[in-house]
Amino acid sequence: MSAPDISTLEAVALEATRSAAVAAYPWAGRDDQDAADAAATEAMRTALARAPGRGTVVIGEGEKDDAPMLFNGEIVGTGDGPDFDIAVDPLEGTSFCARDLPGALATIAFGRTGSFWSPGPGFYMDKIVVPPAARDVVDLDDPPERTVAKVAEAVGKKVGDLRVMIMDKPRHAELIARVLRAGAAVQTPAGGDVGGSLAVLMPTLDVDLLLGVGGTPEGVLTAAAVRALGGGMLGRLAPQREAEAAALRAAGRSTDRILRCEELVADTAFFAASGVNGGPLLGRPRSSGGTTVVESLLITDGQIRHVTHTTFDRATGTRREQP
Ligand code: FBP
Repeated sequence: MSAPDISTLEAVALEATRSAAVAAYPWAGRDDQDAADAAATEAMRTALARAPGRGTVVIGEGEKDDAPMLFNGEIVGTGDGPDFDIAVDPLEGTSFCARDLPGALATIAFGRTGSFWSPGPGFYMDKIVVPPAARDVVDLDDPPERTVAKVAEAVGKKVGDLRVMIMDKPRHAELIARVLRAGAAVQTPAGGDVGGSLAVLMPTLDVDLLLGVGGTPEGVLTAAAVRALGGGMLGRLAPQREAEAAALRAAGRSTDRILRCEELVADTAFFAASGVNGGPLLGRPRSSGGTTVVESLLITDGQIRHVTHTTFDRATGTRREQP
């Protein structure tokens, strides 16, 4: 029997991220991360309920938050169509949204059943993301100076012209200092390593490499996009607290094993994101005169599609409710 064609679900993925972005945006700048996240999650879940097929949330709102919706193992869809796996982060960058700083995204990835790696009780992983030209040269065991030199050579730049993205976290202080000393330029956003990884994959954005420790759900979402575009990614569980390390030990999970992109996402997958409050990748939803415009991107096998979706509300004059 041939594998089911999950490309029929691309429109559902876009509707799910678009709905989440529109629902979260009214919460931008209201200093309420939980409300923004809940609004995005509920909207995404409603959209996923209409998916033609049977989806399993493999990576969801997660154990970390004990989330009531889109939790790991939740089944979504109408049941009438292919089986598929989903990884979701309905609001990636919740604090960006709460503070109305650019960079929050509504994100989702769809894959064939059984294709998404599950981090078990691991919340954090060490990651390297590179464009296709450098996919075969990186190694998570390399010191950062060597990684920077290898990636520069692979992408045909001098180290001094290389741009590296590393989230500005206390755990990265030494990494950032070493990459700077090696001569590369470093962008240090407060968070958002899915967006940072997408920037590495987008030829129009001047980022060559993402390094550092971020969330495991974000790692699997990122791997779906990296795999689709032929980029390179390596990941390794990197617990940040003793309780997380103990839970991984109890579950028999290795913190030494380096996972390639093709192990994080083991089969054809696609990725969608919509802009929540602007940034270099996607603008924020805009509503006026009864229309709502949402910017999204859809990453499938070898393609990035930018989608601008305009919804006309024919009962003009009705404003979207503000929280
Ligand atoms: P959220 O979706 O939870 O808002 O994640 C934002 C983020 O910055 C991710 O991009 C990143 O992987 C993770 O948080 C890092 O976690 P922490 O902020 O705990 O270091």
